[in-house]
Amino acid sequence: MKELLKKLTEAFGPSGEENKIREVILDEIKDYAEEVRVDALGNIIARKKGPGEKLMLAAHMDQIGLIVTNIDDKGFLRFSNIGGILPLTLFGERVVFENGTIGVIGIEKMDDLKDIRDIKLNKMYIDIGARDKEEAKKKVRIGDKAVFYEGFDVVGDFVTSKALDDRAGCAVLIKLLQEVKSPKYDTYFVFTVQEEVGVRGAKTSAYGIDPDLAIAVDVTMTGDTPEAGKMAVELGKGPAVKIMDRSVICHPKIKEMLIESAEKNNIPYQLEVLEMGGTDTGAIHLTREGVPSGCLSIPTRYIHTPSEMASMSDIENAVKLLIHVLEK
Ligand code: CO
Ligand code: ZN
Repeated sequence: MKELLKKLTEAFGPSGEENKIREVILDEIKDYAEEVRVDALGNIIARKKGPGEKLMLAAHMDQIGLIVTNIDDKGFLRFSNIGGILPLTLFGERVVFENGTIGVIGIEKMDDLKDIRDIKLNKMYIDIGARDKEEAKKKVRIGDKAVFYEGFDVVGDFVTSKALDDRAGCAVLIKLLQEVKSPKYDTYFVFTVQEEVGVRGAKTSAYGIDPDLAIAVDVTMTGDTPEAGKMAVELGKGPAVKIMDRSVICHPKIKEMLIESAEKNNIPYQLEVLEMGGTDTGAIHLTREGVPSGCLSIPTRYIHTPSEMASMSDIENAVKLLIHVLEK
């Protein structure tokens, strides 16, 4: 599982540019799904047939990133955000473009900076070591996207990397595809695109599949770091059954299905109420005439920073819990 997660988190794939991560996932699942297709927007839809209702499982394969908006005469790149980027996580950060070009993020008038909260993206730039505009343009074009540089490391009982949001969820779906032999549901495993810019891939794939039930797997925040907000989710205490976030109130049927699977099989779990943010579930449950939907979350610290942190045991327990949901 660690190897898989390392491979997934290190694959390039900001929203709208998911080619590389899609290839990695297709390679992992090709021998296990009965049908695999890539739809018009780039979502991977893999199916394992079963006798029951149509169940859609979703994890997003895109990650947050930066997009080049302008290249100045000296070869410095100005940029905007793709998804939720906190400016204060960027200063001194290294980023990497799809072609391997490395950049360092600098800030204007650094010596005058009094409060890190005052930093705005439009006062920052990416330095790719180019001498001038011409040299920069040989490496990067307007609209090119970059992602955080950080690799995958094991720290104590936990792992840290960029893009655990939501490659951790992708790893869970891949393992399920590999391990579930005959699901009781007609199961669609969907690796969605463009979640970070507004759950766009989930919206179109759910419309196409027209599922009877849906479960997303994504990361959620925790309340277990120094003076964190009062959130009842901790690393290592099991995957979290989402009750609510800003995009969805999870359907009681799915919520109970997940809780029951955990309790019957002695799998640790937590309950999650997230007072901000959303996931693919937000789009899926509003599809057509409505889809009973829920979400199983991987507790994660430092979400949307270069070094997100999660517990391998929570990820493995998420797989176990969902195997029981599918096979029972
Ligand atoms: Co995210
Ligand atoms: Zn996510």
